[in-house]
Amino acid sequence: MEQQLNTLLTLAKEKLATISSSELLEEFRIEFLGRKGEFTSIMKGLAQVPKEDKPKLGQMANKAKKDIEALYRDLHAKLSAGSAGNTGESSIDLTLPGRKPETGKLHPVTQIMNEVCSIFEGLGFSVAEGPDVEHDHYNFEALNIPAHHPARDMHDTFYVSDSILLRTHTSPMQARIMETQQPPLRVIAPGKVYRCDSDITHTPMFHQVEGFLVDKNISFADLKGVLTIFTQKMFDKDLELRFRPSFFPFTEPSAEVDIACVICNGKGCRVCKRTGWLEILGAGMVDPEVFKMVGYDPEVYSGFAFGLGIERIAMLKYGIDDIRLYYENDLRFLSQF
Ligand code: FA5
Repeated sequence: MEQQLNTLLTLAKEKLATISSSELLEEFRIEFLGRKGEFTSIMKGLAQVPKEDKPKLGQMANKAKKDIEALYRDLHAKLSAGSAGNTGESSIDLTLPGRKPETGKLHPVTQIMNEVCSIFEGLGFSVAEGPDVEHDHYNFEALNIPAHHPARDMHDTFYVSDSILLRTHTSPMQARIMETQQPPLRVIAPGKVYRCDSDITHTPMFHQVEGFLVDKNISFADLKGVLTIFTQKMFDKDLELRFRPSFFPFTEPSAEVDIACVICNGKGCRVCKRTGWLEILGAGMVDPEVFKMVGYDPEVYSGFAFGLGIERIAMLKYGIDDIRLYYENDLRFLSQF
């Protein structure tokens, strides 16, 4: 029996050296290790050997079986990993379905920003961009908000130094453009703005689009007309707009503009704080003081300005009830847009 086991082991090794495919390896397994295989038939002979030889032969048989199984497993692993070993056969399975490459997309807020800009460009506005890190002068002083003016409390400002800050709104672009260009002006200025603010409708960094139009005989009715056309185009339907009297030091009169909450159809939900309305922008007629600071004659020119919150528009457009989702970078959320 000892002789038989040695011969079986040699035979198994010789056979394995010739195997190059999973099918042949399976045949080998059945022939050598299967229930009716060579090894099992040798083991049946163990019943006939004298009792005193049984332990030694039993150990030898176990070792021979383990050796054959180990050789089998090695080759099985090689063949499954695609390395066909000694034959050099190709391991590529052309029948496997292909893998679709992941493609990147624009962030939903960027998509809305682009859409907003193209609507205003269609209305004849040109696009201007300015710095995120701004002088106190443009962010406040040139907009009729002197140091210690109570209106500065409206903005929780991130200061870089005493006179440099992260702009709290895109309105500094009004002053920057007006001091270098003469009317008529029809400009939008999109960009990032920063405020120390965070809840379901506020984020510390958000986007605004500033818009302003300066010419002769511009009235509040022109402002209402432009904003009504904008909301119709943006939401593809006639949405109710609500102008609420408000105060900005750089516009007079001033208004905050709400649109009927698209999420609850004006019924009241947590986003619109149960009011049925969501504020999307601040606006007004450019204050004569601002005109005087940039050297325009307020007796000749008038104009309107507005500052739109892009994330708010994106919330309404996509029915998102928490603004912070836009900045958590969860791909399961972002890839839906
Ligand atoms: C202003 O920022 C003015 N500069 C707007 C303006 C421009 C008035 C020109 C007059 C003339 P306000 O602070 O209300 O206004 O912000 C404008 C819009 O930005 C808001 O209506 C809102 O849609 C959005 N907004 C304000 N704070 C946040 C915030 N923390 N997160 C997201 N959106 C915000």
